[in-house]
Amino acid sequence: MPKNKKYQPSSEILKQAYVKDYERLYKESIQDPEKFWGKIAQELEWFRPWKKVLKWKPPFAQWFIKGKCNIVHNALDRHIRAGLGNKLALIWEGQDGQERKFTYQELSDEVCKLANGLKNLGVKKGDRVNIYLPRLPEQIISMLACAKIGAIHSVVYCGFSIEALRTRILDAKAKIVITADGYHYREKLIETKKIVDQAVEKIKSVKHVIVVKRTGNKVKLKAKRDVYYDELIKGVSNQCQTEEMDSEDPLYILYTSGTTGMPKGVLHVHGGYMVGIYITLKWIFNIQKDDIWWCTADPGWVTGHSYITYAPFICGLTQFFYEGPPLYPDPGKWWSLIAKYKVTKFYTTPTAIRASMRFGDDWPKKYNLDSLRILGTVGEPINPEAWRWYHQYIGQSRCPIMDTWWQTETGMHMISPLPSMSLKPGSAAKPFFGVVAEIVDKDGKVKEANQGGFLVIKTPWPAMLRTLYKNKRRYKKVYWQEIPGVYFTGDAAKKDKDGYFWIEGRTDDVLKVSGYRFGTAELESAFVSHPAVVEAAVIGRPHKIKGQAIKAFVILKQGFKASPELEKELKDHIKKEIGPIAKPEEIEFVDSLPKTRSGKIMRRVLKAKDSGKPVGDTSTLED
Ligand code: PRX
Repeated sequence: MPKNKKYQPSSEILKQAYVKDYERLYKESIQDPEKFWGKIAQELEWFRPWKKVLKWKPPFAQWFIKGKCNIVHNALDRHIRAGLGNKLALIWEGQDGQERKFTYQELSDEVCKLANGLKNLGVKKGDRVNIYLPRLPEQIISMLACAKIGAIHSVVYCGFSIEALRTRILDAKAKIVITADGYHYREKLIETKKIVDQAVEKIKSVKHVIVVKRTGNKVKLKAKRDVYYDELIKGVSNQCQTEEMDSEDPLYILYTSGTTGMPKGVLHVHGGYMVGIYITLKWIFNIQKDDIWWCTADPGWVTGHSYITYAPFICGLTQFFYEGPPLYPDPGKWWSLIAKYKVTKFYTTPTAIRASMRFGDDWPKKYNLDSLRILGTVGEPINPEAWRWYHQYIGQSRCPIMDTWWQTETGMHMISPLPSMSLKPGSAAKPFFGVVAEIVDKDGKVKEANQGGFLVIKTPWPAMLRTLYKNKRRYKKVYWQEIPGVYFTGDAAKKDKDGYFWIEGRTDDVLKVSGYRFGTAELESAFVSHPAVVEAAVIGRPHKIKGQAIKAFVILKQGFKASPELEKELKDHIKKEIGPIAKPEEIEFVDSLPKTRSGKIMRRVLKAKDSGKPVGDTSTLED
């Protein structure tokens, strides 16, 4: 097969495509973004129409000014009113094979009951609710229930440990934490409630902890503070008014890693966000009434927020949601689920594809994957080999792959193919409508075709983050001052002469391990919290499956000696502080670290040394 082969859409895909002429519509959307987005927003329901589509006072944007809405109205109430109450909304399967199904009406009933339960615990509009749950229907229900009553959810991925959870609860001043008695990750029991108990210790803002029963293992309930989820909603009404929100009212905070130890609280709002995620899902995945959607993400990350909890329901889809991990109990598990539930649109990560690829094509060949129509990937660059494997063995050479580039901060897909486009394996193709993306140098000068540079976004988009929670200054600095006047994505990329974007990875101190995002600073401060460590520097080293793996350079305090035992202890320490997903692959004990004269660690030098490449310019190196 020629290496640069482009993949053309089939006539069937073309026939169904919402967008057939990308170039024309893109041009129109850029010439008059307010007209474009205003028209899309009218496909959804508003309690009161907006007065103006966009107010842009850089770097602060407001969308759908004075419009009144609620994302949950569009995700649930709207469909029920249109007579779709009996349509299946959610099919959940547990790792143990247990199955639960909810129609739109049933899902709405559950959301209303919890919404009333939360109100009974004193939750009001604007209050923060922390959600620390495994992949259970209650995770989605909790998010929707918060949004319904105007509370702001802050979901923390339950692969994070005590300290990471504690920091996030503290920053958001959460009033409630919703968790589970535990869950099984493969064979291991993870005792979520115990983690929460330690994380909330002495945090005054937390008034109640709600506990979903998943495993039935015994947990201690603290009197007056803790309540079981099923008891909270017992006998509670399944009717609850959806709160009228302003377009710009906050919907959620989602913490993500940046360049300092303190994660950034990315803030999203109801109005623009619902419009952006709705249309990107609909057009990029060509959503049809009979689709069965499966996004393998966890709602603890932005992919799950946008493309599990909200957009699929806004589109009126039936979606499948799976509790278990990939490749368990065997590498065919996911493919068997696609066959069982007749999944039509499947959205996953390059890491998962690479990991599956390792076990060969016999596993997908065992199952009937004929239901699939469109595939997607997200979270990290996909190498062309993995793309082709995914296309051939999962997509059976007939399903186009939507390689969607976006971020926690962007809320919605920003650069992605559309089903009607020709595809180049490894390229995220072109900017979505209304999105002006460019490759520039550090002074903001546009780079020529095929020249690598910084990926920036030049104009606002409706699902963009509005600010960092309680930290406008950091918002301005991190995103809008790095290269003045444009949104700095932190990614390196290039654009080829056909206008296709090729994302190369992060340029800043952010790592992508199996698609999970970590800040080097967050990891380093976890290292120094161990009594043996005086200083640490963390880099991402290329990894065949995970994309990047964590390597740490550690300076020990006097009196401590490097040993394999200490290395293991430190790895466990990181696991405990941040979570098992952050466990370093290798720790190297060193006597000093390369630093600039101003004391900044030169990770570039460490990376070069680690990979055996030339170190490059070291004129700013102190030692
Ligand atoms: O580096 C890019 C990478 O993931 C980063 C954003 O991470 P996060 O906020 O965790 O959101 C991930 C899910 C949207 C980006 O800065 N990234 C995301 N999608 C792609 C990607 N890199 C290459 N190709 C993609 N399709």
